Amino acid sequence: MGKLLIFLLCISLFEGWMVQSVPYDYTASIKCLGSPIRALYKGGIIENSEFNSGLTGWSVPWGVTANVSSSPSGNNFALASASNNGQPSRSVYQKIQMESDHHYSLSAWLQVSSGAAVVRAVFKAPNGAFIAGGATVARSGCWSMLKGGMTAFSSGPGELFFEADGRVDIWVDSVSLQPFSFPEWEEHRRLSAGQARRSAVKVVARAADGVPLPNANLSVKLLRPGFPFGNAMTKEILDIPAYEQWFTSRFTVASFENEMKWYSTEWMENHEDYTIADAMLRLAEKHGIAVRGHNVLWDTNDTQVSWVKPLDTQRLKAAMQKRISSVVSRYAGKVIAWDVVNENLHGQFFESRLGRNASSEVYQRVARIDRTARLFMNEFGTLEEPLDVAAMPSKYVAKLKQIRSYPGNRGIKLAVGLESHFGTPNIPYMRATLDMLAQLRIPIWLTEVDVGPKGAPYVPVYLEEVLREGYGHPNVEGMVMWAAWHAQGCWVMCLTDNNFNNLPAGDRVDKLIAEWRAHPEGATMDANGVTELDLVHGEYSFTVTHPSLGSPAVRTLTVDASSSAVEHTIDIKV
Ligand SMILES: *[C@@H]1O[C@H](CO)[C@@H](O)[C@H](O)[C@H]1NC(C)=O
Ligand SMILES: *[C@@H]1O[C@H](CO)[C@@H](O)[C@H](O)[C@H]1NC(C)=O
Ligand SMILES: *[C@@H]1O[C@H](CO)[C@@H](O)[C@H](O)[C@H]1NC(C)=O
Ligand SMILES: *[C@@H]1O[C@H](CO)[C@@H](O)[C@H](O)[C@H]1NC(C)=O
Repeated sequence: MGKLLIFLLCISLFEGWMVQSVPYDYTASIKCLGSPIRALYKGGIIENSEFNSGLTGWSVPWGVTANVSSSPSGNNFALASASNNGQPSRSVYQKIQMESDHHYSLSAWLQVSSGAAVVRAVFKAPNGAFIAGGATVARSGCWSMLKGGMTAFSSGPGELFFEADGRVDIWVDSVSLQPFSFPEWEEHRRLSAGQARRSAVKVVARAADGVPLPNANLSVKLLRPGFPFGNAMTKEILDIPAYEQWFTSRFTVASFENEMKWYSTEWMENHEDYTIADAMLRLAEKHGIAVRGHNVLWDTNDTQVSWVKPLDTQRLKAAMQKRISSVVSRYAGKVIAWDVVNENLHGQFFESRLGRNASSEVYQRVARIDRTARLFMNEFGTLEEPLDVAAMPSKYVAKLKQIRSYPGNRGIKLAVGLESHFGTPNIPYMRATLDMLAQLRIPIWLTEVDVGPKGAPYVPVYLEEVLREGYGHPNVEGMVMWAAWHAQGCWVMCLTDNNFNNLPAGDRVDKLIAEWRAHPEGATMDANGVTELDLVHGEYSFTVTHPSLGSPAVRTLTVDASSSAVEHTIDIKV
């Protein structure tokens, strides 16, 4: 009878740049500040980015008067006065030289002369196309940050300007535009994913008396990756073993496409039926797949079950409360998350009936019943569409702050759910938006990733880009795709055919899963019983073989971001 100890010591190793490049700057601000912060990258390719040399490098559009003004503290900025011609108000603009196959990261600080206005960043690309680079709600009296960007696919002269609807003066400062070649961008992503999702782990094998086991053999098996990656599940999985096999061999998290929604569980008033959702949950549990509860309520008009719409205020309140306590108490402790009031930026159904605090109250009720699940504000457009006026990052932030600041909601476990229904993705805008939302300091998930339109040839390529961008962002904590399979066709994006053989998009997904699970499969300890491994976060089984051990010693343990702070000691009796 001997004893074996394995010490796991996580150390962070400095990784050098593979591609010579300016590091990506994750700085973002969701506060309206008295003075803007300095231009990122010292302005990048923007000349006179802080307006300390008058309007040098900038041009003034026809019909606009502009000058450089100073704040009482001496900060210079450009002021463009609205014209009265019925066109959008324009800021000063700068001509820029763009290079093909480059991502351009944009940031700027904006203020308007009165009230608040949506200010858009617009690029004129070398081919003459106007491209939305992002938008923010700018206010008077303080500065708001806009972060965004664009991708150039051709070289030549372009332009950058800001505009707002209606008649308003646009103030601009600290403008920055930093180009990154595609390989540089990819390298940032790789380094960032390495830092966020992997740890360098030192493993020490010793006998019970503390003596190292020299030259012991270690075999390493990843049981479950730490980063949740999943897909939408449909009820057909209950009847088709090949579907079950395909799904459960790949994913660690699922959302049910429709089966937990109100219109599925109570199609007729007071006739609740959870049979299908229960069965799907049991199937997920059997395979160790975590489930996101989708959704408690849905805020868009056209998704209400027909008997709900005509209810008067009192009966609507009663029906909502019954729905909330019914679904949330049924699955509390069994789901890891709730999409609480789905799409409550694009929808206003409950607010229009019950007042502007309706959603805040729903989050509170759900939090009281289920204290463990993350409560997501699940929305589309925020990450996908630089010009989504309903759901742009500044509006997402404002709504989330409204919910969080509602009396009694301070401690609730909110999270950012970005549906991610992409067409052609604007990758620098996507990263910039994640930077902005990261300032909320709550978990961020991509919850319904797909790429359309259906059948477009570039879908697999763009899907891979979007998933890599999500995985590479340090603040993204999980991703679920919306490739919901049905025999009569998928929602937007299919990963498999009807025999559950992968389509090209499915092959991309499998390639990423394999890459994100890659780890050394074994090592031989050195003369001191030590080895160092670069391990992706997850749950592992370690098997140690050594002549002094009667049989191999097997232990499971978890490697995660906090591993670097502690020294794991595993005591194995052999
Ligand atoms: C710039 O223009 C604004 C609006 O026309 C004006 O109020 C301000 O005095 C001007 N500032 C300077 C420094 O000329
Ligand atoms: C480790 O494995 C190698 C190759 O399988 C084997 O030759 C060696 O004897 C093993 N060492 C120990 C200490 O078990
Ligand atoms: C949704 O319905 C409410 C009233 O029930 C109405 O005020 C609102 O305009 C509708 N919204 C949309 C987008 O149709
Ligand atoms: C909404 O809640 C806020 C507190 O967060 C309160 O001041 C306000 O009066 C409420 N508005 C309505 C319409 O109930």
